[in-house]
Amino acid sequence: MIQVENVDLAYPGGPVVLRGLNFQLAAGSFHFLTGKSGAGKTTLLRALYLDHRPERGAIRMFGEDIATLPHEALPALRRRIGVVFQDFRLLDHLTVAQNVGLPLTVAGIEPDRRDKNVAELLDWVGLGDKSGSYPPRLSGGEKQQVAIARAVIGNPRIVLADEPTGNVDSDIGGRLMWLLAQLNRQGTTLVIATHDQTLLRDYAAQAGVLHLDGTGGVVQQSSAPVQMPHTGS
Ligand SMILES: Nc1ncnc2c1ncn2[C@@H]1O[C@H](COP(=O)(O)OP(=O)(O)O)[C@@H](O)[C@H]1O
Ligand SMILES: [Mg+2]
Repeated sequence: MIQVENVDLAYPGGPVVLRGLNFQLAAGSFHFLTGKSGAGKTTLLRALYLDHRPERGAIRMFGEDIATLPHEALPALRRRIGVVFQDFRLLDHLTVAQNVGLPLTVAGIEPDRRDKNVAELLDWVGLGDKSGSYPPRLSGGEKQQVAIARAVIGNPRIVLADEPTGNVDSDIGGRLMWLLAQLNRQGTTLVIATHDQTLLRDYAAQAGVLHLDGTGGVVQQSSAPVQMPHTGS
């Protein structure tokens, strides 16, 4: 599902952040991306959602080499990847329901179908009663629930989450993790950047670890059992 070969990641004018990365993530797998602050977790996630091009090496998503893919093909590929940002990135002037439905609005999905999907997802994350609220009135945990609902509304095959529990207390964090792990149980490939040791311990049996050692050089990988996607709808 995700293949990274000899990849270097750098910022313009800056040093190489990650060097010689090699790893593969199977379809339906669940991995934590760990490493201390500044190790490059966010940079690697950006490369995986096609927001940051490698200096060197190849990244294949869904079997496609993203470097040689025509530019016009990127949006369609990106729609198969759901992203939960650490800072939520909600639009404050749109309601919760409008934020969650935005990917479907942009994709031109018919409003009745969109609104039904939005309502179902808001119930799933536990925010059914907040659909008309605006993000500035929500708690950090609620904002992250909205962000998770928005990330998955397009039914992505891969979900990437950047420290999704970083800004919430541990009860809410547990609930957010349960939602993400549930996606994986339904067959979604899941990568979660975190430095939360409790999460790593709680999900050790289900999740593998990709560890960035902080010197840019090494990713150590351990694997966990792969979830089989559900068949049917
Ligand atoms: N936009 C940027 N421009 C230049 N350097 C950056 C940028 N974003 C991150 N970096 C640098 O890249 C390194 C890795 O950062 P990051 O991927 O955010 O790490 P992490 O998410 O593990 O804390 C750090 O040294 C950081 O200063
Ligand atoms: Mg980060």
